[in-house]
Amino acid sequence: MFRYQIGLFIVLVLAALATLSDTFATSDREYAGSETCAGCHAEISEDYLRSGHPLKIQKVDGTPPVFPQGTSPGVLAPPAGMDWEEISYVIGGYGWKARFMDRDGYILTGEANRQFNLANDQLGTAGRWTSYDPKTAPRKPYTCGDCHTTGWRKTGPEGPHQDGLPGIHGIWQEPGVTCEACHGPGALHAANPT
Ligand code: HEC
Ligand code: HEC
Ligand code: HEC
Repeated sequence: MFRYQIGLFIVLVLAALATLSDTFATSDREYAGSETCAGCHAEISEDYLRSGHPLKIQKVDGTPPVFPQGTSPGVLAPPAGMDWEEISYVIGGYGWKARFMDRDGYILTGEANRQFNLANDQLGTAGRWTSYDPKTAPRKPYTCGDCHTTGWRKTGPEGPHQDGLPGIHGIWQEPGVTCEACHGPGALHAANPT
């Protein structure tokens, strides 16, 4: 009987601890945003901005995507027959290739002019347009946020959708791989580094 009571006591203590740590963990899951991090970690932030990580997906507003000077030559033209106005986001375009999302947030797919491969000095290849996932043409949903955004929450066709764009099947905290994609949500730390 006594043994049973000790057992019960331990179980209750463990349950209480689990609840407590959950309470603390909740505030630990909030994001501060990379601009807040940059406020105190300026030097790291400069390196990081040149690394390409935050540019894994970039919003475009009628103009070509922008890359830090001395990094990528960029993506000078939208897919053939289209205008930058018809593109909502460019995916990549920093290191190897770029893909494009239409105004509804879907990724453009098809046999030709759907992916731009950047010129590559090491391989000696020139920049060129190519196909992308023709089986899904003319477009497919954006479901790539686990690796290309920060704080991605997968939703689905019913949403909610990032920016209210039905083609984006999820919600992110920040586009691209920003500080908190690697270091974890940092609102608690940013508010009280000590
Ligand atoms: C208010 C200022 C401030 C803000 C905002 C801030 N930090 Fe910090 N951070 C610090 C200080 C101070 C330290 C301790 C520095 C040290 O020990 O060298 C630190 C330490 C760190 C460390 C550990 C460094 C190590 O050597 O172990 C990481 C990682 C870090 N911060 C990431 C972030 C991220 C990510 C963000 C944004 C979510 C952020 N910080 C926002 C001030 C800040
Ligand atoms: C499992 C993780 C993961 C998923 C999911 C993922 N990617 Fe990637 N992607 C990567 C990694 C890692 C790289 C290489 C990063 C680099 O070297 O620039 C990459 C590179 C890219 C690049 C080239 C970036 C550049 O600047 O040259 C594009 C474009 C891209 N991915 C598009 C997509 C699309 C579209 C999807 C969804 C259909 C997707 N990715 C899903 C991990 C992923
Ligand atoms: C792609 C993943 C990634 C991203 C994005 C990233 N970090 Fe880090 N960071 C790391 C890794 C891994 C280390 C440990 C390795 C090292 O020290 O070089 C690190 C180390 C650090 C350190 C401690 C080491 C030092 O040099 O002081 C701080 C502080 C830090 N990061 C802050 C940031 C901030 C702020 C951002 C955004 C502006 C950021 N990181 C973006 C992966 C990342």
